[in-house]
Amino acid sequence: MAMFSHFPLMLRPTPCHRLDRASELLGIDLWIKRDDLSGFALGGNKARKLEFLIQAALESGADTVVTCGASQSNFVRQLSAGCAMAKLKCVAAVMDQPYEPGHELPQVAFTGRGNLVLDDLFGADIRRFPNGSWDDLYLHAHLLAENLRGQGANVYEIPVGGSSALGAYAFFLAADELPNVDTVVTASSSGSTHAGLQVAFRDFPTRVIGIACDPEPELIDDISRVANELCELLHQPPVGKEEFDLRTQFVGPGYGIPSDAGNEALRWLARTEGIVLDPVYSAKAFSGLMELARQGEFDGQTVVFWHTGGTPAIFAYF
Ligand SMILES: Cc1ncc(COP(=O)(O)O)c(C=O)c1O
Repeated sequence: MAMFSHFPLMLRPTPCHRLDRASELLGIDLWIKRDDLSGFALGGNKARKLEFLIQAALESGADTVVTCGASQSNFVRQLSAGCAMAKLKCVAAVMDQPYEPGHELPQVAFTGRGNLVLDDLFGADIRRFPNGSWDDLYLHAHLLAENLRGQGANVYEIPVGGSSALGAYAFFLAADELPNVDTVVTASSSGSTHAGLQVAFRDFPTRVIGIACDPEPELIDDISRVANELCELLHQPPVGKEEFDLRTQFVGPGYGIPSDAGNEALRWLARTEGIVLDPVYSAKAFSGLMELARQGEFDGQTVVFWHTGGTPAIFAYF
């Protein structure tokens, strides 16, 4: 039973079905949770978070929402659509390639394709900044918000990826849509998908494995911080960092840079099941699942892969 009201955006429950061919080839009982089929703005895990975040923005009396992300952000794309539906102005600070200092990355060329086409279609105001650290990007977004306030706008700021307590709450509720399974595998980046699911399953035998799509070691701190904000909201005892199962070995060259194993997994699932992943998040997560299955980690188990969407990025990367 939801404690907070939401602004309806998506079709739920999203489908959850068995992957017969992949199960046979990987030697496990493999299912997939189809948040790529949310029925909203070409799909993805952000619709769940945005139903609560957009409602909160409306309740705050905002007329403008400001956020930030990479230029191929799936969050910015879905936020753009949600804001259009709620008659809110959407302004986003974007970098082609935000990174952590110490993780300087090779350039990936973007040409205004993929998610950027959709941001424009949904009417978002996209402000492009030169590449820099995530902290630079957060600062640009905050200064943008302050600037708009100075011009009379009533601004609601949403953190990167919608990862606030409310974002995690959406995934806490989403856990109810799953059948009984041994393990859930999901991509993890800004953290609220993993955080919400882990808090939901904390007292159950179901294991939640997050596959990191960011290389920075602080990711686990971000995930447990947002999980603890959720626990506070739910009046539950805090969760310790050690409760999170985050696998960091499948990121490849860096955030937003496709990995060979991820692209291979993407092609494999496309050709085995006709299901399309994205090269930045879900393909890396699925490559992790495949590798863990090969290592025997899921022997005898029923595993659900949570497809978090991201498919439009294919048209920028490939
Ligand atoms: C397609 C896709 N999968 C996974 C994630 C990670 O979800 P979260 O930010 O909740 O960790 C994102 C968000 O950045 C995404 O766009």
